[in-house]
Amino acid sequence: VKKVAVLGASGYTGREIATWLERHPSLEVDGFFSARVGDGPPPPELPFARADQPLDWKRLRRADGVFLCTPHGTSAPLAARCLELGLKVVDLSADFRLESEAAYAKAYDHPHPAPALLQEAVYGLTEHARERVAAARLVANPGCYPTAVLLALKPLLAAELVDLHTTIVADCKSGVSGAGRNPSARTHFGGVHENFSAYAVGTHRHVPEIHEQAGTTRLAFVPHLLPVFRGILATIYFQPVAGVKASDALGCLAERYAGEPFVRVYPRGLPELDRVHRTNECHLGAADAEGLVVLVSAIDNLVKGASGQAIQNMNRMLGLDETEGLL
Ligand SMILES: NC(=O)c1ccc[n+]([C@@H]2O[C@H](COP(=O)([O-])OP(=O)(O)OC[C@H]3O[C@@H](n4cnc5c(N)ncnc54)[C@H](OP(=O)(O)O)[C@@H]3O)[C@@H](O)[C@H]2O)c1
Repeated sequence: VKKVAVLGASGYTGREIATWLERHPSLEVDGFFSARVGDGPPPPELPFARADQPLDWKRLRRADGVFLCTPHGTSAPLAARCLELGLKVVDLSADFRLESEAAYAKAYDHPHPAPALLQEAVYGLTEHARERVAAARLVANPGCYPTAVLLALKPLLAAELVDLHTTIVADCKSGVSGAGRNPSARTHFGGVHENFSAYAVGTHRHVPEIHEQAGTTRLAFVPHLLPVFRGILATIYFQPVAGVKASDALGCLAERYAGEPFVRVYPRGLPELDRVHRTNECHLGAADAEGLVVLVSAIDNLVKGASGQAIQNMNRMLGLDETEGLL
């Protein structure tokens, strides 16, 4: 049994990790910590708060691994300190997802807090980085939208089934938990209930992440806010190269993901959110539409899009079976 700690355990992803770790046979939690350092304002009282313990570096030293469930900008200095203590680090924030300091500063409006670590961080889209994740000290857990989009597109791009003379459109819809627990005018009940809206079109911070990992900028990303708590459905439209149909795309995905415990390719029909609800699975389907191929990818943003994938990565980093605690 290995010991892990959770920093920023009072937020949505921290709470989700706590739930899954309760059932994990080989990971024992040695601390749900707050990630606050110094005398800031006290954190709000929350019914599900697990981070009642202040950050205790001495206790952290006893752990084998740590999950950083903290905002971007906060994670990087914590990661640096945890690495010094010899812990394996899975960071759920965006701090180590982009390849360069310049790309990070542009997307996140502040200089990178620990640029020296950017090079060694491994982008943890597990199914596409298995060996590198196993060897890593620091894993950048992918963003929720990028997970849904990249799992669908990467095999098709690698097989050159997509005509990159035209632009791919990733039309994505997320439940409100994707924005974290702090309410805003857009995300509180009154703004979401019986409503549906597009937001951050062309400007969302996941654009550079998707572009870098897809290896192309010929992709327009349009996020929408769904009136549900959890789940992402990505509908991806692309022009295939001549002669390629949805059935070819499905064949390619089925071959690439054969034997994958957490990716399901539908031979017919399309994924829906309730089939992935509270699972670590990504469901993929495809259909033809007037010469375009339409892919549909569904995940639970809090599980495969965050905490589940984080555990999947930590399992690999600590030499456990990748599926432990997640089935
Ligand atoms: N929600 C998702 O679907 C999702 C998916 C993928 C990745 N992520 C990423 O995962 C991270 C956590 O997301 P979340 O949705 O769990 O956010 P959240 O619900 O807003 O929780 C944020 C956590 O970070 C702590 N925190 C906030 N500001 C802090 C600061 N200045 N110093 C130290 N700790 C601070 C909070 O603790 P207090 O109780 O002390 O405020 C809380 O525990 C973010 O980087 C997010 O981008 C989220």
